[in-house]
Amino acid sequence: MTLSDTTVASHLLKEEALIGGSWQKAGSGKAIDVLNPATGQRLGSVPNMSGQETEQAIASAQAALGPWRSRSAGDRARILKRWHGLILENLEALAQLLTAEQGKPLAEARGEIAYGASFVEWFAEEAKRVYGDTIPAPKAGSRIIVQKQAVGVTGAIIPWNFPSALFNRKVAPALAAGCTVVVKPSELTPYSALALAWLAEEAGVPAGVINVVTGDPAPIGEALTSSSVVRKISFTGSTKIGKLLLEQASRTVKRTSMELGGNAPLIVFDDADIPTAVAACMNSKFRNAGQTCVCANRIYVQRGIFDKFTAALVDAVKKLVVGPGVGEGVTIGPLINAAAVAKVERHLADAVAKGATIIEGGSRHPLGGQYFTPTVLTGANAAMELAMDETFGPVAPLFVFDTEEEAISLANDTSYGLASYIFTSNIDRVWRVTDAIETGMVGVNEGLISNEVAPFGGIKESGLGREGSKYGIDEFLEQKYILISPTLAA
Ligand code: SIN
Repeated sequence: MTLSDTTVASHLLKEEALIGGSWQKAGSGKAIDVLNPATGQRLGSVPNMSGQETEQAIASAQAALGPWRSRSAGDRARILKRWHGLILENLEALAQLLTAEQGKPLAEARGEIAYGASFVEWFAEEAKRVYGDTIPAPKAGSRIIVQKQAVGVTGAIIPWNFPSALFNRKVAPALAAGCTVVVKPSELTPYSALALAWLAEEAGVPAGVINVVTGDPAPIGEALTSSSVVRKISFTGSTKIGKLLLEQASRTVKRTSMELGGNAPLIVFDDADIPTAVAACMNSKFRNAGQTCVCANRIYVQRGIFDKFTAALVDAVKKLVVGPGVGEGVTIGPLINAAAVAKVERHLADAVAKGATIIEGGSRHPLGGQYFTPTVLTGANAAMELAMDETFGPVAPLFVFDTEEEAISLANDTSYGLASYIFTSNIDRVWRVTDAIETGMVGVNEGLISNEVAPFGGIKESGLGREGSKYGIDEFLEQKYILISPTLAA
C-alpha cells in the first residue's frame, strides 16, 4: 500500500516539508522512505533535510515571531479553534493516515486524533488566561507587575508512538502563548504532522508560525539545539536522547521540556477489585501494543490475589486480536520496526534465563513481520532487564509481593518516575501510597490517565516540565517583572 492507496483525502497527503509557508520537496537523492509497519511496504517518502534547511526553518520562525506574538490572545485563540474544528472534520482521514504510518488499530487512531484535538481546543481557551500578577512593592509609591511573554522560537521534537496527538500537545500551547515553532516529526511517522500543519495553514495560522522539517534526527536536532535563535526545546522520546539534547541545549541555556522514558509500576493490592484492576491493566499495558511511555511495565500483584488476578489477566489477553490496524476487530497492531521486535525478544530471553515462566504468548505472531503475540509471564524479578528498562511491547511481566512497604520500595527502585498505577479499595492506603510513590502521575483504580486537563509529565530521569492542563502553557512563557517607581518630581 502506498500513501495514495489509502482512503485519505489527497489534500492531507503531504510528501513535502513546510518552511516559511512553502511546501518543499526533497532535492535530488535527498528523500527518506516511510514504511507501513503492518506490511513493511513503502508508503512514500519525505525530504531528508539537513542542518541547513533547519536553519532556514528557524529563520522563518524568527521572522514570523514578532507579528504572531503581538496579535491579541483572542485572535490566536480563534485561529486555534478553527484548527481544532478542521481536525475534527478530518478525523477519519487523519486516523487512516496515522494507522498507515504508525500501525495502531484504527479505533485507537481515531481516539488519538480526538485526544490530540482536545489539546488544541484546551489551549485555544487557555490563550486568553495568561494572567500576570501585581506584587506589593517594598518602596512606598512603587508598583511591581509580573507579566508573561512568549519564550520565542521553539523546537518541538515529536516521537513516532503518538505522532499526531503529541504534535498538537506541543504545538497548540506554543502557538497559544505566542511562540512560533520548528517541528521535527519522527522520520518513521512524518505524515500525521504534515497533515496537521496543512490543516493549521487552512485554519489561518500564518506562514512561518509552524514549520515542519523532516529527515534524520541528528543534524536537525543539532541545528535546533545549537541555534541561539531557538529559545526552547520541547522533546518527547527516550531518556538517552533527552540527555543528549539537554547537553546540547545547555550551550545556549535554552528552556527545555522533556517527556522521557517511563518504567511504570502497576500495583494490585489484595483488597483491589480484580475486574477493575484487570480492565485497567489491559488498557495501560496493551494500548498501542505496549508502545507508550506510560505503559505498565512492571505489574506487582500481592500474594493473596496473585492466582486470581493472573488467571483473569490471561483470559483478557487471549481475547486480544493481533493484525493490521485497518483489520476488523484488531486490537493489537504491529510493532513500529524490527528493532522494537528484537528488543521484546531480548527482554523475554533475559527474563526466562533469570527464572521467569511464560504463561501466555511469548513469541512472534504467526502473521510474521513486526507482529508479536501478547505475552504474560510470571516469576519476574528486579534483576531482569524488563524490570529496569521499558520493554515498549505487548509483554506483561507479573511480580509477586507481600507487603505495602515492599511494593512501594520495588516500585521506586528505578531511575524513572513518569507514571504509576495502584489498585486498592482502602482509602488510607491510597493516600499512603500516592504520597510515597516517586512518579509525576498516579492512576488509582484507573489505567488511562492521559487527558488535556491534567498535567502530563515525570520526575527523576523521566523528564522536566508538564504538558496539557493549566500548567502546560507556562512551559512556553517567560516571566518579566517590572518595577515602576514615581519620578522624583512626583
Ligand atoms: C507517550 O507515550 O509519549 C504519550 C502517551 C500519552 O499521551 O498517553
